[in-house]
Amino acid sequence: KRVGVLISGRGSNMVALIEAARDPAFPAEIAVVLSNRPDAGGIERARAAGIPALAMDHKAHGSREDFERAMHAELEHHGVELVCLAGFLRLLTPWFIETWRDRMINIHPALLPSYKGLHTHERAMADGVRIAGCTVHFVRHEMDVGPIVAQAAVPVLPSDTADSLAARVLEAEHRLFPLALRLVATGAARVETRANGSEHVVI
Ligand code: GRF
Repeated sequence: KRVGVLISGRGSNMVALIEAARDPAFPAEIAVVLSNRPDAGGIERARAAGIPALAMDHKAHGSREDFERAMHAELEHHGVELVCLAGFLRLLTPWFIETWRDRMINIHPALLPSYKGLHTHERAMADGVRIAGCTVHFVRHEMDVGPIVAQAAVPVLPSDTADSLAARVLEAEHRLFPLALRLVATGAARVETRANGSEHVVI
């Protein structure tokens, strides 16, 4: 499957996906990287790995949907079949989310449905939780909500700060995202709707 990766920052998860996809046996290839921020460090890292990477400044577009239509055109142009959100910090419109329904996954640095949104590690530390982690899920309209593909847990140690916890979770993210993409790209993970309307990933 041809994959487009959307980023806003340093792109370490994007690099993890690029590295996993270098294996010819991996069921996905990274076709293009798009950033909504021209200064995202991940753009250079993608290009250094030989992947086409474009900065698409959302401020250069009239509306949120104009910006997304431009992104969508780039994805189509590169034959993208699956989208990975890897630290993409811009809310998506219902149009984009529906267009990529069940073909777009996001990584979040917490064990959803706990700690949606930003500052997950600070909030987890403040609550005194003993286990933290990360989640890859299909994207739905609400932020950080959607059928869960895979999760990884890490311990919270007594000596941790939000930064040391973030670093431990990030390492787990770099293992989890390629694993989850593999499940989605092969079709091993798919969304099933139960009689009560709730959606789950079956593997
Ligand atoms: C990661 O922690 C990811 O879970 C979150 O944003 C961060 C992005 O980091 N959504 P990077 O750009 O992949 O290094």
